[in-house]
Amino acid sequence: MSGLYQLKRKLQRKLPKSMQNRFQEMIYVLLYRFSPARKQNFFNSGYAPANAFCRETPPFSNEPLQATLYDHLLECLSDACENAPDRLLDIGSGLGGGVRLGAVRFPCAQVVGVEVNATAVRVARSRLQDVPTASFEQGDARALPFPDAGFDAIFSVGAASYIGLDEYYREAARLLKPGGTMVFSAGYTDARLENHRRKNESLAKKNGLVLHTFEDITPHVFAAIGEDVPRRKALIDRVPRPFRGYALNWADMPGTMRYQEYEDGRRLDYFVVCTKPKSAKGSNAM
Ligand SMILES: C[S@@+](CC[C@H](N)C(=O)[O-])C[C@H]1O[C@@H](n2cnc3c(N)ncnc32)[C@H](O)[C@@H]1O
Repeated sequence: MSGLYQLKRKLQRKLPKSMQNRFQEMIYVLLYRFSPARKQNFFNSGYAPANAFCRETPPFSNEPLQATLYDHLLECLSDACENAPDRLLDIGSGLGGGVRLGAVRFPCAQVVGVEVNATAVRVARSRLQDVPTASFEQGDARALPFPDAGFDAIFSVGAASYIGLDEYYREAARLLKPGGTMVFSAGYTDARLENHRRKNESLAKKNGLVLHTFEDITPHVFAAIGEDVPRRKALIDRVPRPFRGYALNWADMPGTMRYQEYEDGRRLDYFVVCTKPKSAKGSNAM
């Protein structure tokens, strides 16, 4: 593990949980401002195998595995929606790749991205000028700048783990219209699948949602990391030397702690689909 990365972990562990999340948000500021990853459309682990649409359609074909993770969620969202959604929200929209894909998959809908990182919002806005149905707002997913029940569908890739599940559910449930659908992916270390299934069931119920799907996608995510090594290596080779070890860890490259966690079966990635019943009170379907 690089010295810089070790120092970051040591510092981060000393902070209380809420401060750890803020610390992580600051790391994202540096990432989106200075790292070669700022030129990408996505910043997630990916899902293998990449589907044909994401492999063949620019700009998704530059990061087909990352686009496929979004596309998989959007397909599940579409299956779970009773009617085609008019307004969708991507929570933790990063550099805007997911909003672009959402606009392609739901061409008649408005797609809004919300992101805590101001740099990412600025980049996404300028890149998606060619998509009139897309827009971006800066905001913290723990207290989002939108009125209640403003969205038919909410999707999110890789952000809920940073936001915190309790806060993520509370805000997503508040923003969903009755009859709306929410889908997200998240990843954790040393977490048991069954515990997380129960936690998600309980949070869905507490927030008036019905949990329809809870799916372990760890093998797909780990396969994507393996397949993506050459692309990640090319990016990391452009990182200035003192930060290269740090970037290797951040990119979950072979030989890093995160990669080892996957090899040891200590890592868990999953996705969840929930709906908000049309009537006031939800019950749990699982
Ligand atoms: C793993 S990245 C995923 C980015 C994007 N969803 C993608 O897949 O390309 C997680 C994102 O969540 C954002 N994020 C973290 N905490 C957040 C918060 N409290 N509110 C909004 N966004 C947040 C980060 O800034 C980052 O862009």
